Amino acid sequence: MSLVVREGLSLKPFNSFALDARASLFVEAGNDQQVREALALATSRGLPLLVIGGGSNLLLTQDVQALVLRMASRGVRVLSEADGVLVVEAEAGEPWHAFVVRTLEQGLAGLENLSLIPGTVGAAPMQNIGAYGVELKDVFAGLTALDRHTGELREFSLAECTFAYRDSRFKRESERWVILRVRFALSRTAAVHLDYGPVRQRLAVLGIEQPTPLQVSQAICAIRQEKLPDPAQLGNAGSFFKNPLVSAERAAALRAEHADLVAYPQADGQVKLAAGWLIERAGWKGYRDGDAGVHHLQALVLVNHGGASGPQLLALARRIQADILQRFAVDLEIEPRVL
Ligand code: EPU
Repeated sequence: MSLVVREGLSLKPFNSFALDARASLFVEAGNDQQVREALALATSRGLPLLVIGGGSNLLLTQDVQALVLRMASRGVRVLSEADGVLVVEAEAGEPWHAFVVRTLEQGLAGLENLSLIPGTVGAAPMQNIGAYGVELKDVFAGLTALDRHTGELREFSLAECTFAYRDSRFKRESERWVILRVRFALSRTAAVHLDYGPVRQRLAVLGIEQPTPLQVSQAICAIRQEKLPDPAQLGNAGSFFKNPLVSAERAAALRAEHADLVAYPQADGQVKLAAGWLIERAGWKGYRDGDAGVHHLQALVLVNHGGASGPQLLALARRIQADILQRFAVDLEIEPRVL
């Protein structure tokens, strides 16, 4: 099927902040061939290409002078099974949470802690999505991407993706690769991860001591639903800042001033601070300037109460960054892609 090309389309339904920016051209690709056609179209029209999945990690501050390519490919398949480990491949356009639930319902463990994260399978490796002690890299078994420079397909192993906290090669080389499908190593024998924050406690309240992966997923969905706003109801892009890494000395100095500082020592000696704690402590939780605001239950999440613009949200983020720098001498890095 040939591409349906739309000019000047509003991206409001295609970004989770629900910002009303227009795309010069907009197409959806359901397969590799359509991705190639979109690339050729962008070249022939002299436009850059912007690939989006669920649009859940984007802050649009103006109209997008580009061909916006929304990945809409579907398909999930098992590629191999050995010693109870299955390699499952999903197309980039598969909605993430539905894919997670599908694997769990088939008795496969691995993705349960990553339940209810908005977005698509193809976007997940970009920022190495993570939640409740598990990151995508922990279950990653490879991906296939299209090289926009050569037009060839390329396979990537775990090491080649250079995943890090909310980071990957694909985020750093965003002009080069279009992720087409991703593979995951999932297990029939459950080894669940319950050590992050409220997970074990939540299950204990339900009287569950040895949870199945599906039960872990259900507990995590409940925790997320309590604290994180649903983008369908209140525009947001999840955590708006990364949790900052500081030196052990800096963390100790902050702890001396703030006994209840939330901090996680890292293997390399650095300390990760909970940005949500810093922002709340600085008094921003629930703050609102017009329709741009800070969520009242999770200070790390900026929200669009309806009519906020991208520049208004960005201005609020800059004020928060300046305040956190001044109060705590900590630099907060913006997490979503700002366009
Ligand atoms: N906290 C506060 N005030 C707040 C928010 C958090 O004091 O307003 C404290 C909490 O009490 C807790 C600590 O900060 O002690 C951590 O909070 P939480 O467990 O909610 O997680 P987070 O560090 O704020 C990170 C991820 C989330 C992920 C959760 C759970 C980042 C940038 N964010 O948030 O990811 O769901 O952990 O694993 O790493 C996302 O990336 O969009 C996202 C939602």
